[in-house]
Amino acid sequence: MELTNISGLKGEVAIPGDKSISHRCVMFGSISSGITEVTNFLPGADCRATIDCFRRMGIDIEHNETSVIVHGKGLRGLRAPQDILDVGNSGTTTRLICGILAGQPFDSKLSGDNSLNSRPMRRIMEPLTQMGANVSSVLRNDCAPLYIAPGQLHGIHYSSPVASAQVKSCLLLAGLYADGETSVTEPFLSRNHTELMLKEFGADVRSVYETGGTKATASIRTCRQLYGQKISVPGDISSAAYFIAAGLLVPNSEILIKNVGINPTRAGILEVCQNMGADISLFNERKEGGEPIGDILVRTSNLHGTTIEGSLIPTLIDEIPVIAVMAAMAEGTTVIRDAAELKVKETNRIETVTDNLRAMGCDVEPTDDGMIIHGGKRLHGTTIHTLLDHRIAMAFSIAALVADGVTKILDSHCVDVSYPTFYDTFENLL
Ligand code: S3P
Repeated sequence: MELTNISGLKGEVAIPGDKSISHRCVMFGSISSGITEVTNFLPGADCRATIDCFRRMGIDIEHNETSVIVHGKGLRGLRAPQDILDVGNSGTTTRLICGILAGQPFDSKLSGDNSLNSRPMRRIMEPLTQMGANVSSVLRNDCAPLYIAPGQLHGIHYSSPVASAQVKSCLLLAGLYADGETSVTEPFLSRNHTELMLKEFGADVRSVYETGGTKATASIRTCRQLYGQKISVPGDISSAAYFIAAGLLVPNSEILIKNVGINPTRAGILEVCQNMGADISLFNERKEGGEPIGDILVRTSNLHGTTIEGSLIPTLIDEIPVIAVMAAMAEGTTVIRDAAELKVKETNRIETVTDNLRAMGCDVEPTDDGMIIHGGKRLHGTTIHTLLDHRIAMAFSIAALVADGVTKILDSHCVDVSYPTFYDTFENLL
């Protein structure tokens, strides 16, 4: 994909469904009794991988673009897959499904693409093993492919060293099948879709917040039955982030982004925008299925640098590549710290962000747990090496819209992972 700078992005954007919530609808629906009907489902490659895994375990799932109907078979209705479960590029599929597989009376094996098979799985293997699960890394390198054999699960309390919704959700799902109570405390609160949704599906799940709502313990008790639900998936704020950035950075722009999920555990980018002096407003706030939603209006703004750290990081971890692009265009310095988790995403995003920003002429330094961006210099077009990371492709497509000359995004088709219609949506705003 080749892109050049533009001016005047104007209009309304409907953002596709939230990736995290779409995965969970399929997973929780599959292990519920009765039908789960999903609208505004995200038909990206990651969520298609989740559908494929559950179909391979005997679940009938009707999927037509943004509509999904899951014919759940109950907590004990999955059947042994004949083949390896292919989780593709999806960390969420891998880590959450392991919690479910750990509670099954059959063996299973899962594997993904090169990026997925190099991401750390010790973070789930260790606590699952403490619960009595039999999970092993086939190559003994603490990564997928993973092999899961039946185990007798019991509840534990786990104090997670990282704020990770994937780790927390994995353990809560295993907790459905474990004797007694399973609880997870995280250093900072990560996205809480699992807790909110499992409650709607009928699980006995609770969250206790400490120290002003940042630190939290989520707990679940063994479960007899979950019940199919009707779910309308909110627009994904992680996808909205590209249009927020485009509206703020591209001259003479005004974009209305409709029906965006603004759960506080996900909405850190809105706070960062405000701290950077953005012209951004949120209205029409409402709730659907326990999740807050709103419309976001952005207009071209002169941004200034900020500091992003601590409890804010898990609330915007996937948006850091595009926030870094905003910081490169902002006056002054932006410091991003406490974000070492960036190193274990689809790529090492401290490297992929800073290497590509530098290639565009930005003055940026990678650090051990983030980056320091000295903004305000003009960016110039170059070749962007996405390393097949969807969020790098999209973040640098936004940079391309404000850079001099031509920017070539290599492997731009990788946007299919989370936002198949990303480039088409842009065309509607020209
Ligand atoms: C996700 C959790 C986050 C996020 C990922 C989706 C989820 O990962 O980066 O894109 O759906 O639970 P971690 O839990 O590893 O932080």
